[in-house]
This record gives sequence, C-alpha cells and structure tokens, in this order.
Amino acid sequence: MSSLFIAHKIGQHYGARLALEDVGFTLERGQMLALLGPSGAGKTTLFRCLAGLQSPDSGRIALDGVEVASLRGRERRRIGLVFQQFNLVPRLSALDNVLAGRLGHAPAWRSWLRRFDAADVARARDCLARVGLAGHEGQRADTLSGGQQQRVAIARALAQQPDLIIADEPVASLDPGSGAGILELLKSICHADGLAVVCSLHQPEYARRYADRVLGLRAGRVVVDVDAASFGRDQIDTLYDGVIHDTQF
Ligand SMILES: Nc1ncnc2c1ncn2[C@@H]1O[C@H](COP(=O)(O)OP(=O)(O)O)[C@@H](O)[C@H]1O
Ligand SMILES: [Mg+2]
Repeated sequence: MSSLFIAHKIGQHYGARLALEDVGFTLERGQMLALLGPSGAGKTTLFRCLAGLQSPDSGRIALDGVEVASLRGRERRRIGLVFQQFNLVPRLSALDNVLAGRLGHAPAWRSWLRRFDAADVARARDCLARVGLAGHEGQRADTLSGGQQQRVAIARALAQQPDLIIADEPVASLDPGSGAGILELLKSICHADGLAVVCSLHQPEYARRYADRVLGLRAGRVVVDVDAASFGRDQIDTLYDGVIHDTQF
C-alpha cells in the first residue's frame, strides 16, 4: 500500500539560486514530521510546494495518490495550513475565523460566512473546544493572545477535516510556554485523528520531543532523515555547523 503523503525528488530554483534539490520523504497517517534547518535552507519553499501553493520545477508531491497541484476547490481542504503569523482575520470572531476555514481558499468568503448551517457552526464550535478555546467563540481574533490565535488557526485547519496539516514555523512568534502547548496540541491531534503533520521548527529539542520523524534541510538538500528518537548531537552539528550548543543534547 502506498503512503498517505509522498514528496519525491522535489527541485526548485529561483533564477540561478538553488532553493531545493532532490528533496523527498513519505508520511503515513498518525505521523508528525519536523522539518529543521537554518534560515534560507528552503523550509518555506518546501512548505509552499507541499501545500500546492507553488509548483516545484521538478518532482512529484501526492496526497493519497493525487498530485497536490491538481487539488481544486473543496478538495484543497484535505490539506490544512498553519502559518507563523497565524493569518487570522483580525476583526472577525474566533468562530467566524474557523468557519472561514470551511471555505478553503475561496476568495469571496466574507459574503459566504452567513450561509453556514447549524452543522457547520456546531463543528466549528467543537474544533474550538478541542484546541482549548471553549468560551472564546465570540471574541475578536485580535484580542486573543498569540498562543490563542495560533489555536484558532489550528481549529480552522481542523474544521476542514484535513488528511494533512502543514505548519510553517507555527511557534516562531510565540513564547516558549505557548509554543510547547501548540506542538503538544498538534502532536495529540495527529495521533488521535490519524492525520499527518509536517511542521517546520527552529528548536531541535522540540523536534525530538514532539515529532515522530525529523527531516533536516541545509542549502536546499536533505542532510538529516531520522526517527525522532535517533535525533541527537551528530544530526544537530550536521544541520547547524556546531553553532547550536543545546545542553539537552
Ligand atoms: N520568491 C523568491 N525569489 C527568489 N528567491 C527566493 C524566493 N523565495 C525564497 N528564495 C530563496 O530561496 C532560498 C530558500 O528560502 P526559504 O524557502 O524561504 O528558506 P527558509 O524558510 O528555510 O528560511 C533562500 O536562498 C531564499 O533567499
Ligand atoms: Mg521560512
């Protein structure tokens, strides 16, 4: 049986600059992959390719055997996206932000918000409860803390009922306590719901603690590809040239 998610020999150039070369991995349901690498390593480029937001120059990316670039309309909901800067609509309530996720990437979502039926609203409330935000449904997004805003973004992704969640540095704008809570949440959702998660990070200890597998990129190439349990000092030195001295490793 083939894997839920396959990235095979992904290559991307920007002009003469190589951003990704021969990057690949597979992911199963219930697996969380941490993507590590210094700034400029290609994490965001890979995120955009995996999400189908940009087509790489070469390679193949498939969710359940379907090329992500060919996912259209409602099918795009199968991939939920979480961003470093949360990407909520500041003036809308937490609940309306989650409902907007039901629309996938449709541009006219504002006029559509009124059209949700009771089942959609109930599901959105359930998703907010799952991320620990019961009671905050009516609160404007821009009055929530950073950690709470990222929880809304995760609830929005969950409301899409995705097979895969891709998160680009979801904890980079958060304090360590809130960040750990977000990763704990992503991990528990991944394992409980059997969906796959790809999450880029800058903290090696978070990768080891929360992920199942660790993929390390350097200058656009995969230099580390191990189970999280095997991720240690050697891999960190390979990735960061020995400049990170984490006492936990
Ligand atoms: N739209 C773009 N045009 C030109 N170069 C880009 C573009 N996006 C990224 N790059 C370059 O590609 C490389 C990888 O960038 P990026 O994917 O943002 O890495 P990371 O997210 O790991 O910091 C960098 O050298 C960056 O300058
Ligand atoms: Mg980036």
